[in-house]
Amino acid sequence: MEQYIMKGGAPLSGEVTIAGAKNAALGILAGAVMTNETVIIENVPKVQDVEYLLDAIADIGAVVERKEGNKVLINASTIRTTQVDNDYIQKLRGGYYMVGALLGKYHHAEVDMPGGCNIGSRPIDQHLKGFRAIGADVRIKGGMILAHASRLVGTHIYMDVVSVGATINIMLAASLAEGKTIIENAAKEPHVVDVANMLNCMGANIKGAGTDVIRIKGVPELHGCEYSIIPDQIEAGTFMMAAAATRGDVVLKNVIPKHLESISSKLREIGCEVVEEDDAVRVIGSNHMSATHIKTLPYPGFPTDMQSQMAVVLALADGRSTITESIFENRFQYVDELVRMGADIKVEGNVAMIEGVNMLSGARVVATDLRAGAAVVIAGLAAEGFTTVEEVAYIERGYESFVEKLRELGAEIERVSSEDEVQKFKYKVG
Ligand code: UD1
Repeated sequence: MEQYIMKGGAPLSGEVTIAGAKNAALGILAGAVMTNETVIIENVPKVQDVEYLLDAIADIGAVVERKEGNKVLINASTIRTTQVDNDYIQKLRGGYYMVGALLGKYHHAEVDMPGGCNIGSRPIDQHLKGFRAIGADVRIKGGMILAHASRLVGTHIYMDVVSVGATINIMLAASLAEGKTIIENAAKEPHVVDVANMLNCMGANIKGAGTDVIRIKGVPELHGCEYSIIPDQIEAGTFMMAAAATRGDVVLKNVIPKHLESISSKLREIGCEVVEEDDAVRVIGSNHMSATHIKTLPYPGFPTDMQSQMAVVLALADGRSTITESIFENRFQYVDELVRMGADIKVEGNVAMIEGVNMLSGARVVATDLRAGAAVVIAGLAAEGFTTVEEVAYIERGYESFVEKLRELGAEIERVSSEDEVQKFKYKVG
């Protein structure tokens, strides 16, 4: 079974280049099928979730070509079905963007219900509400989302909860609707803005992305374009936490520092140094980190996707910290794993109470979901002794070359597939 084995205790140092944003890529690649002209997307991260979506897009008949580097070409003129019900799409959350994209272009979509990490109940009622509001008949049948419209007509939509997925999905479909759609209480995440920018590059007319009111003037058709995806805010944040937890000194390249503000300011608050440049951020860890309180919130608040990695840092900070999770109800599964490594964390409802300890110790732990998986790796790198992390497929859904990048920063970590290899690693690094 694939697992990561690592020996912790050494500070990470050096430079790491951050990949394109996975969650932007999923919306953008789905959007690329909305024209019959060729779309070229750059800075596409090589992660499993993106591969699943590209496979699903190819499976319905589009031409999908991976070019050198991180470039992907999509030509959707050859799409032969609007039914997306293969193994790939079931595995990922962002597969639901195929509903918005196909509904907008063909007025018809049949897509498997989304999968993704088990971090809560994750309803999609706001997506369906949006599609219905612009004139689609939407049903869930046999585990699939069935959406059909004879006409899509723009309207005023108020989102009952701030949802990244629903905001992007409605933007996709409404780009090709008749008239004007207004999304109120929209999500403001950088990847919402990135999908809007890409659709505008394809000829859509979307204004206000990044604020809580998005105005979309429908256009009759979209055209081809070349577009480069923004850097991944969460991958960057993860390496920032790895630098802090190991008391290292790491420069992250290809980032947008503004997107990292909530993360940078919390690290500064607990005593780390964060130096911002135009498209780079340097994090210098501290031997005397202090406790703080975190509450996850929609952007520009502290991202829910960063709370498990931050928990590792706070587990090593002096005093009592708290993390309040306000987006997903089941996002503390990683706590048991950190406790196995010597962390002192108790969960009550949606609050984790963390009493800082001096040191974590290596153990055999499991990645319970994508971001939780990254967190236990960070813990392993900060801990004394050896740590093995199982279920690493979760991690590889969202992190490009995670092990390789960590190794370049000096981490002693390897991806192995047998107990034999674990023993060899232990023998090698001593
Ligand atoms: C996306 C990200 C995920 C991130 C999350 C919040 C992708 C593929 N995933 O997930 O990594 O953790 O944003 O930043 O981009 N909700 C409803 N009804 C809906 C939709 C959402 O009640 O129709 C609720 C959810 O249960 C949750 C909150 O709204 O409590 C936010 O969810 P949302 O922003 O939609 O998250 P995802 O798009 O699933």
